[in-house]
Parts: sequence; C-alpha cells; structure tokens
Amino acid sequence: MNNFKNLRGTVDLLPDQLIKWQNVEKIIIEQLFRASVKEIRTPILEMTELFMRGIGEGTDVVSKEMYTFLDRGERSCTLRPEGTASVVRALIQNGVSSKPSQKLWYMGPMFRYERPQAGRQRQFHQLGVEFVGYESARSDIEIITLAWDILEKLGIKELNLEINTLGDQNDRSNFQKAFLKWLEVNKNSLDLDSQKRIDKNPLRILDTKNVQTKKILEDSPKLVDFLSEKSLERYLTIKDKLKLLKIPFIENFNLVRGLDYYTHTAFEITSGLLGSQATVCGGGRYDNLISQMGGTETPAIGFAIGLERLILLSGKDLEESRETDIYIVNKGLNAETMAMDLSRKLRNYDLKTELDLSGASFSKQFKKANKLKSKSIIVIGDDEALKNEFIIRLFNQENFENMEETISVDDVTKLDNWLDKNLLLKRS
Ligand code: HAM
Repeated sequence: MNNFKNLRGTVDLLPDQLIKWQNVEKIIIEQLFRASVKEIRTPILEMTELFMRGIGEGTDVVSKEMYTFLDRGERSCTLRPEGTASVVRALIQNGVSSKPSQKLWYMGPMFRYERPQAGRQRQFHQLGVEFVGYESARSDIEIITLAWDILEKLGIKELNLEINTLGDQNDRSNFQKAFLKWLEVNKNSLDLDSQKRIDKNPLRILDTKNVQTKKILEDSPKLVDFLSEKSLERYLTIKDKLKLLKIPFIENFNLVRGLDYYTHTAFEITSGLLGSQATVCGGGRYDNLISQMGGTETPAIGFAIGLERLILLSGKDLEESRETDIYIVNKGLNAETMAMDLSRKLRNYDLKTELDLSGASFSKQFKKANKLKSKSIIVIGDDEALKNEFIIRLFNQENFENMEETISVDDVTKLDNWLDKNLLLKRS
C-alpha cells in the first residue's frame, strides 16, 4: 500500500486549527461589511496568459513560481498565484469595469512554487481587497487604513507600515534610465542575483536582501527625485493624511513590490513578531492594469493579507470554540428516529447541538456529553419514544431536577419556553 502524503508546501487544516481560522475570517468579513466592501469570487484556475500579461513576465512570480500545465484540450492553465489579475479580468469580462466605482474583497487559496518555510507555503491563502474606479489620494488612505484596522482588530502586535511611491509610467521610465546608467557603473559590486536582474527587472534590485548590495544602493538615484509635480503632491498628501490619522509609517524608497502592475502608492505591513517572512500585507495602486488588460482606463488600488501569517500572529483568544448547547442522548430503535427528528428541528434555533449516533449505553453517552461540557442534555429512551416525549435538562448542575422537563414532541411552545429560559436568553 502506498503511504500518501500531501505535497510539499501544502498543509492540512484540521478541525481544531480551523476554529481560529474561522474566527479570524469572521472578524475580517464583519469589518469589510462595515466598510461597505462586497465579496467577489473568481476561479482558482485561469489562462496562463492572464498572469503573464497582468503580473509581468519578468517577475519572480511569473518566471519561476507559477503552477502551470496543459489541460486535456492543450490549453495552458495556471493555478492563480494572486487575486488582482483575476478580479480585473472578471470585471472587464462581465462589463462591470466601467461602473463608477466598486469596493471588492476575496478570500481563498493561491499557489506559488516557492521554497517552503515558516509562513511561506506553496498553497497559501490571501484576503484581497480591491477598490476599482477610485482615483483620489483619499482612496489610498482609505485602503491603507482598512488594512491597518483589520490587523489591529485581530490584535496583531508590532505592526510596521512602510510606504513608497513608484510614480506614474513616465516618472518611472525617467528614473529607470538614470538607474540603469548607475547600475552599469556599479554592476560588478552587486551580488550575482542583482546582476542578473539588470536586464530582466532592474527595479527589483532595490528590493534585494543582500546586505552588501543594500549598502551600495544607498548612493543610487532615488525614484522620489524623478516624480512629476502631480505625483509628488499626491505622495505628500498621503503622508500628511496618514500622520493626521495617527497611522505610524516609515518611508522605504526601496519598496518596489514583486508584481509589475504598481503605480504611485506601494505599501507593506510587517510584524516584528514574524521571522524572515515578516510581510503580512502588501498592496498598492495599479492605475494602468485595467486598460493594459483590455478594459477602459480605470484607476484602482488594493492589498492582500497572507492568512497563514495572520494566523501565526493572532492571539490565543481567537481559538475559543462555542460550547455545545444540547447533547441528545438516545437509545433504542424508536428513540433513535425521534432523536434524529428532534435534532433537525433544533437546528432551526441558534444553538449548537450534538446528536449521539453511537448506539452506545446511556452511561457512555452521558460521559461523552460531559466531556463536551454540553450545557444541557436531551434524553430519549424507548419509554419516552413510546409516549412521544423527551426529557430535557441542564447538565452538570446541582439541583438539575428542578430544571428538568418532560416535553411532548408536538408541544413546540413548551420547548421554546424552556430553551429561551435556560439557553437562548442567557446568551443574549
Ligand atoms: P503579494 O505581496 O505578492 O501581493 O502578496 C500579499 C501577501 O500574501 C504577502 O504579504 C504575504 O503575506 C502573502 N503571501 C505571499 N506569498 C506567500 C506564500 N508563498 N506563503 C504564504 N503567504 C504568502 C499580492 O498578491 C497582490 N495581489 C496584492 C494586491 C492586491 N495589490 C493590489 N491589490
């Protein structure tokens, strides 16, 4: 027999771990709802061309990390490495990119063939937010504060926001010319990886982790010096507003991001509590992407948060699961059917119920209910089933006899009253 294992860089999320995931997702979704951001879902599988055009062929993501294969119809398909390109495609294809403005979010698995380590997987999950049709610097602030607030709401500590501007296409091409000249002179002092990037994606050299190259880069031309007046003004406004809103940030002129579509604002949020994979959130403006992909010219800005990194950072208090409200103990053929019927009815209430399916002795079933710390218990034996009734009582409480009721299956009012008094009203 083959011992099957999951693929390297992928993980199973087991029920106990998922309690925290679900709590994190719930808090995020509530926060997005309150900010009037709507959900969008796009396929995990897309045409390869979409990412080549959207993200850029010179990027690491496209040139080295994509899961790409031919399907049975010989079409080149790719498991999405990120969500922005897919959202843009969906908006153009469905004719909604021309709507005035939309705030969208998505959550789900992404795939990158990277070297796995703590906080870095080949299948990982992102929450993405995209504001499409938003041009003003106010939307940059709104998107940055939204990301910041989500992280704060989840209790993430030691957050650092880094911002930079990449200017518009013109600013960048002016900078690139000067930078390439500088690179030519300094090429031999750079690490090998950076040397290789000169032809493919020179801007990414700014993002190097090599300490020596970093030092040399301190003297290189800075993009901020090549900004047009308009771009500079936009950048200054964003910095001023962030200060007014008391969102602490640092400027990092080397922050260029790993995807080609960015213009103007680029930002990342890291946490000092993560190891080498410290970036929890990355995003920025992409004003040219939609027109580049065949849509009408539409400004846009967004970010994505890596959920695995978020889970690593979010506290123990998010791990609590809700206790069982009612455990249904049942024994005997008639009792079983009645228990199943009752359990279905109880799912109409905001209660967590557990139906014992074991057929084990009453005492074993009681032990199980006790282990689950169920707040109450329903008992149905064949005697009760014959009379079409069940016993309900609070569990593990002194004087439980007082709370015990025998209720006829058809007496909905009596059941409602008992549940209200003992479980539902107590919670609210
Ligand atoms: P990104 O910086 O490539 O941006 O990814 C965003 C976040 O996803 C990272 O900060 C990190 O937390 C997480 N992440 C990336 N790769 C991995 C991995 N291999 N394992 C675990 N987590 C990972 C984007 O994807 C853009 N689409 C963001 C965006 C949206 N920009 C504008 N709109």
